[in-house]
Amino acid sequence: MNKNAMEHIETASVDELRQLQVERLKKTLNHAYYNSTVYKQKFDEAGVHPDDFKHLEDLAKFPFTTKKDLRDNYPFGMFAVPQEQIVRVHASSGTTGQPTVVGYTQHDINIWSDVVARSLRAAGLSSKDTIQVSYGYGLFTGGLGAHYGVERLGATVIPMSGGQTDKQAQLIHDFKPTALMVTPSYCLNIIEALEKKFGSAKDCSIKTGVFGAEPWTNEMRKEIETRLGIDALDIYGLSEVMGPGVAMECLESKDGPTIWEDHFYPEIINPETGEVVQDGELGELVFTTITKEGMPVIRYRTRDLTRLLPGTSRTMRRMDKIVGRSDDMMIIRGVNVFPSQIEEQILQIPQLIANYQIHICKQGHLDSLHIRTEMRQDSSPQLATQLANQLKSQIKTMVGISVSVEVLNEGSLPRSEGKAQRVFDIRQSA
Ligand code: DLL
Repeated sequence: MNKNAMEHIETASVDELRQLQVERLKKTLNHAYYNSTVYKQKFDEAGVHPDDFKHLEDLAKFPFTTKKDLRDNYPFGMFAVPQEQIVRVHASSGTTGQPTVVGYTQHDINIWSDVVARSLRAAGLSSKDTIQVSYGYGLFTGGLGAHYGVERLGATVIPMSGGQTDKQAQLIHDFKPTALMVTPSYCLNIIEALEKKFGSAKDCSIKTGVFGAEPWTNEMRKEIETRLGIDALDIYGLSEVMGPGVAMECLESKDGPTIWEDHFYPEIINPETGEVVQDGELGELVFTTITKEGMPVIRYRTRDLTRLLPGTSRTMRRMDKIVGRSDDMMIIRGVNVFPSQIEEQILQIPQLIANYQIHICKQGHLDSLHIRTEMRQDSSPQLATQLANQLKSQIKTMVGISVSVEVLNEGSLPRSEGKAQRVFDIRQSA
């Protein structure tokens, strides 16, 4: 097989794809029901049986799986194969509550490597490339998931992992990778290090960035593309479903990640009612894995808010950029606000840096937001108040809320080395 060629299914007809999905869904529902006591109980309680699935629409009869199911069955209770067939586990960091654990068979790892390799090809990369992986290696799926995909593509991997920012910049200078896989927030940090060390980041060897693991706006894309002189593409994924490589943006269209629907079946639901909504409508993304053995997930509620869009560069559907997670939505005086909306406004102002914090505070009985961001070094200190006022008024006009803004000197706020923490709830401590 030519490692650099597209797979047949990527451009097959929609009918062929749907047919394959029906077959694989049938198999998965049976596998889950007969090999996992958790799914057997969930299906029985909902009064459904895998035989009730005949058409894609029938999937809506089956119950959802949530993070709580994984937590309740911590650590290995969701596995659907004997332990001896599990070759690897990963776990989410679990900042709130117990971590969630996922398990993979060798077959799962092979498919994961295949979809990451496919994702890298979609980014225009091939076996000729050298790719620096700066996602964290370890229990997080980012580092190892990316790593195996690069090897599967036949490209050269630099397994740098997260952190040691100075060394990241030095290796880019010395090893001359052509692509970088990292969170967009950490990429900015690496750009700063390159600029400091070598005067410019634009002239470095990197041509392509494969960025994900956290929400990022198109404004952030422009900022990174300009400062690093690259094409920045969006890779999406989550541990419960697989890891990075569930969906990937294609270089030729740059119009949102294509979902690798031959392995991950997507639905969008109304998060309040659980009803499936039409393609094109905004709601919560739900995934059913259709080839996974070790830990299949049926209708897993991601809590990510987006919409499904028709395929462009591939037959498979795309997802719009994630607006945010339902957990990250802030309700400020009745207005729903996501961190990405604030990011958009910060990046409209050229003198401001895309590093920011959003503090949720209490003002009397009401919640309010305090935004902290930074201005570029070459801006005069007198500008700070002017920039703060400008941002404040832009947020008022575009987002519809009144906030307070603090513009600090460059380097004042902590830098991300992985997923950036943007929102700080200081209502209790205030
Ligand atoms: O972040 C997997 C990953 C690693 C994806 C590297 C891409 C690159 P988790 O730690 O389980 O897995 O976090 C998954 O991160 O539900 C989204 O909320 C968010 N997320 C991941 N990719 C994107 C993206 C990995 N491209 C959670 N855009 C998901 C927006 C993303 N949010």
